[in-house]
Amino acid sequence: MNTYITTPIFYVNAEPHLGHAYTTIIADTYSRFSKLCGKNVRFQTGTDEHGDKIDEAAQKSGYTPKEYADRISGMFRDTWPGLSIEYDNFIRTTDENHKAVVRGVLQKLYDKGDIFFSDYTGLYCQGCERFLTDKELVDGLCPDHLKAPEEIKEKNYFFKMSKYQQWLIDHIKSHPDFISPVGYKNEVLSFLSEPLADLCISRPVSRLTWGIPLPFDETFVTYVWFDALINYLSGLGYSPSGDHGPDFTTFWPDAEHIVAKDILKPHAIFWPTMLKAMDVLPYKKLHVHGYWNVNETKMSKSIGNVIRPQQLVDDFGVDTVRYFLLREMSFGVDASFSTDAIVARQNSDLANDLGNLVSRTMAMVKKFTGGKIPPKPQKVEDLDQKLIEAAESMLDDFIDSMEAFLFHRAIQSVWELIGLANKYIVENEPWALAKDPAKRGRLEEVIYNLLEVLRIISLPLHAIMPQTAAKMAHALNVESNPHLTGGPVWSTGLQVGSEVSLQEALFPRLEMKKDTDGGAVQQASKSKSKKKISDTDKTDSLMSFEQFKQFDLRVATISAAERIAKSERLLKLTVMAPEERTIVAGIAEHYAPEDVVGKQVIIVANLKPAKLMGVESHGMVLAAKDSGKLFLSTVSAPVAPGTKVS
Ligand code: MSP
Repeated sequence: MNTYITTPIFYVNAEPHLGHAYTTIIADTYSRFSKLCGKNVRFQTGTDEHGDKIDEAAQKSGYTPKEYADRISGMFRDTWPGLSIEYDNFIRTTDENHKAVVRGVLQKLYDKGDIFFSDYTGLYCQGCERFLTDKELVDGLCPDHLKAPEEIKEKNYFFKMSKYQQWLIDHIKSHPDFISPVGYKNEVLSFLSEPLADLCISRPVSRLTWGIPLPFDETFVTYVWFDALINYLSGLGYSPSGDHGPDFTTFWPDAEHIVAKDILKPHAIFWPTMLKAMDVLPYKKLHVHGYWNVNETKMSKSIGNVIRPQQLVDDFGVDTVRYFLLREMSFGVDASFSTDAIVARQNSDLANDLGNLVSRTMAMVKKFTGGKIPPKPQKVEDLDQKLIEAAESMLDDFIDSMEAFLFHRAIQSVWELIGLANKYIVENEPWALAKDPAKRGRLEEVIYNLLEVLRIISLPLHAIMPQTAAKMAHALNVESNPHLTGGPVWSTGLQVGSEVSLQEALFPRLEMKKDTDGGAVQQASKSKSKKKISDTDKTDSLMSFEQFKQFDLRVATISAAERIAKSERLLKLTVMAPEERTIVAGIAEHYAPEDVVGKQVIIVANLKPAKLMGVESHGMVLAAKDSGKLFLSTVSAPVAPGTKVS
C-alpha cells in the first residue's frame, strides 16, 4: 500500500508562520502514521516562487526575484527539521525540471486544443493572484484581502476549464471522499452549480516577467497557479511525454493533498480539470482545514501577531507544539492560538496526564521490582481486563480517526486510555500492595500491566510526538520503530526481566507570567519558566488563604444553552448568578444544550471577560474531568442563584 501526501507549496513572499507549520505538521503526522501502518510513503512540500507577489516583494527588498526566493525558500527548508518534519522531497517551482514539465504540459494542452487565445476583461485581485467573479466579491471587495480588485483588459491564453465542468461534478458526486470535510465538498458543488468560466493561464511579459514563458508564445509567462499546481506531478517524476519516473507510477494513484480553506478553489476546481485535460488520473483526496487565528483575531503582519514556529519550539519544545496544534484544532474548523491555551494543554494533558502516568509507573518499577520488567501475569482480574480491552480498542479508534483526518479525535482516544491507566493505579493502590508481602504477586501484575499500557500508548505517539515516543520506547527498552498492525497487541512487546528507566520527566509544568498589557503571545516569546515537578515545587505552589479569597465562586442556574457555530467544543450558556450573564463553556462534546438547561453549576464569577469564537464569556463553569469525561460541578441541593461558594 502506498501514500503520497503533499502540502501546498508556500509562497516565498513571507517567512514561515504558524499556519504553514500546521499544514506541514499535519502532513508529517499523516506520513508517520502511514509508515507506522506499514505503508510505503512519499511526502512532498516546497515553495511557490513565481508571480506578481514574489516579484513585488523582491523589488521592495532590493533583491532579484531569484535571490529573494532562494532566501525565503531556505527559511522554509530550515524550519521544518526543528518541528520534526521529515519530508521526502522539497520542490521549488524555479527548479529546472519543474519548469520543463510545466512547459511540456502547456504544449500538450495547446496541441490538444484545450488552450486558446482571447480578449479578456476581468477583476483581478493581486492578493489572490487570480481574476474574481462578481459573485465572489463582498461589497465590491475581495473577501480575503478586503481590497477592491483592479479591472484589467488584455489579450491572454485560456484553459478550457468549462469543458470539464460536468465531468468534475460527476466525479465529486461519485467519489464521496474526494473533498473533505463534507462542508467544503458542498461549497465546491454549489460553486459548480453555476457555469464555470474558462481559466486565464497567462500574463503578458509587459506586465510580469517573473514566470515560466509559454512554450508556444514567449511574450507571455504562465499564470502562477497553473505553474504551481503542477508541482504535485513534477516532483514525482511525471513526464508530459509519458516517459514517467517510477515514483509517479507508484504513488500518483494514492495522492492526497492537504490545503487550508483559502486555496480550496484552485485545488478542487482548477487542478482536477487540468489533470483530466492532461489524461492523468485525478488525485485521490483533498483534505481541507480551517484557519488558525491568534487570540481570536486574524493573524497578520500589520497587526503584528504573526506566530513564528521556531519561536514556539524554543519556548515550549517541539512535541508540545505538535501536540497542541493537532489536538486544539478540529480538522476543517478554524481554531484560535493563544499562549494560555498551549500552557494549559502542556500542564494538563502532557505534564499531568501523560507525564505523571509515565513517571509514576517508572518510579514504581524502580522501587518495587528493582528497575526490571516483572513477569507476565498468569491471571487477569476485572480491572486488568478493562484496561486490556481499552488498550486494544484505543488502537482501533486511533487508526479510524487518523484515516478520517480527525486528528483531535485520534488524540482523544489515546488520552482516554491514559486517563484509565491513571485510574488503574488509584484503584489498585500499588503502594498498599507493596506493604503486604503476600500481595507481591499482585503488585508485579499491576506493574507489568502499567508498563504494557505505556508501551501501547507510545505506539500512536510515534506519529504525533516522535521525540516523546522515542523517549518512551527507550525508557521501556522496546522497539523504536514499531508497526501498528491490526489484531491484538497486548503483551506482545515487553521483554520480561529487562531493565527499564526514565532519565527525566517527559513534560515539565509551565508557569505563565502575564504581561501588564496582557500580551500573552508576546510573552511566550520573551520568557519561559519551566519547572520540574518535585515535592518542594508542590509546596511552593500551594496558595495562601488570601489568594483563595480572591476567587469569587458562585452558584449559577443555567437558563439557556446553545451550540456555537463552527465549534465542536463550546456551548454558549446564559446563567443567572443572580443577574444574567453569558458564559462560554468547553463542554459541548460532553453535554447537549438541552441537558444543561435548569442545572445549577459552580462558576468563577470574577474572571476577566474573554472572547471565544466571537462570543464574550463572563466567567467560567467548573467541571471535573475523569478518564476523558467531563462532569459539571454542582451543589447537593438547590440554592438561590448567585449564592457564594466558599
Ligand atoms: N502558493 C500557494 C499554494 C500553491 S499549492 C499548489 C499559496 N501559498 S501560501 O504561502 O499562501 O500558503 C497557503 C497555505 O498556508 C494555506 O492553504 C495553509 O496550508 C497555510 N496557511 C497559511 N495561513 C494559515 C492560517 N492562518 N491557518 C492555517 N493555515 C494557513 O497559497
